[in-house]
This record gives sequence, C-alpha cells and structure tokens, in this order.
Amino acid sequence: MDEIIGLFPTPFMRVPAALGPELVDGLVRHFAAAAVRSNNSSANLSHTEMLQPGDSPLLVECANLIMPKLIDFGALLFGERIGWSVKEMWVNVLNTGGRQAMHNHANSFVSGVVYLTATHPDAQTVFMKSPGGSDFAFRNDHNRTTPGPYSADKWVSPAPQPGDLVLFPSYLMHAVPPNPGEQRITMSFNAIPARLDSWGYKITFGG
Ligand SMILES: [Fe+2]
Repeated sequence: MDEIIGLFPTPFMRVPAALGPELVDGLVRHFAAAAVRSNNSSANLSHTEMLQPGDSPLLVECANLIMPKLIDFGALLFGERIGWSVKEMWVNVLNTGGRQAMHNHANSFVSGVVYLTATHPDAQTVFMKSPGGSDFAFRNDHNRTTPGPYSADKWVSPAPQPGDLVLFPSYLMHAVPPNPGEQRITMSFNAIPARLDSWGYKITFGG
C-alpha cells in the first residue's frame, strides 16, 4: 500500500474558548479604546502600545490561561516541557476595510492570537510558506491546479469564535486580508522559552 508521510510538519495549535466571555469582554472594554498606534499597512488598523502581563490583572489572567497551552506547544517544538514566558501582548483593532500585511514576529519563538470579536470569513488570518530567499522561483499554479498540503503556499486558518486562541511558531509569515465585516478585535502576543540546551550549549532568555 502506498504511503505519503508528512515530513517535518509545522505545528499550529487551536484552542477553542481559551478565554471565557467575561475576560473577552473585559479586554475589549479596557484595551480597544487604547489602540491608538497606527499601522503603516492600513489606515483602518490600529494597535495598543506593547503591553506586558504585569500591566493589568486582565493580562495576567490571559497569560495564566495561555501558559499551559504554551507548554504543550513548546513540547512539540523543542521536545521537552520547559518553562515559557509571555512577553509583549497587544490589542489590534481592524475596522471595516482594514488589513494587515504579511509579516512574522522577530525576537520570539511562539506567537499567538486571541480573537476577541467575531471575524468575517474573508478576514480570517492567512498563513504563508516562507517566501524564500533571493533564488529564482519555479511554480505551477493556475486554474487547473489543486493546491494540497505539499503544494499550497498559503493556508486560511479556521473560522474563529471570540475567546479562541491560536499558537504558531513566530517565524511563520501571516497576514489578514481586507476586512469587509464589522470591527475585528484581536489580542496578539509573543512568548519565549526560559532556556534552550543543546547538549550543554545553553542559552537563557530574558523577558
Ligand atoms: Fe502578527
């Protein structure tokens, strides 16, 4: 029997209802109005300042709920249940017509998004394969191709509900297509492991 083995797959974690409705409402009430920093990819997208869990009891509560999921996810990435810390957290307000350009998160190992409002189906977060380096590219994509897990270069994440969490490796490129729906609010964050140890070559990370 033929067999196809997905070599070296990339983990992507979905946690439905990671945050309860009261916490989600509290985050929207406290932080949506604080999203005053503009984004240069869209006039209809704004963010809060970078926040730390210690800046608000609401953020501490979020970090505490996220932590066990980070440890599970980290075990997939590094083969060990190690300590993690949530560093920056920020709230994104994407108004009708707004979009977020393709980007990834520097100086971080695991990044995550908590959805705080309903998300229009056209504005679900899209993840992309690395665009590659400076070599010439060869592709086969046209209206007769059927993209699959090995040939597709982008993936639309599943429809989220308010309170849902996703975790992904920080190097993964992602974007939000133009939002034709109502205001879409999310909270993003970055996380780092306490230490990595390669047969005695160790590195520890600050907060
Ligand atoms: Fe992002």
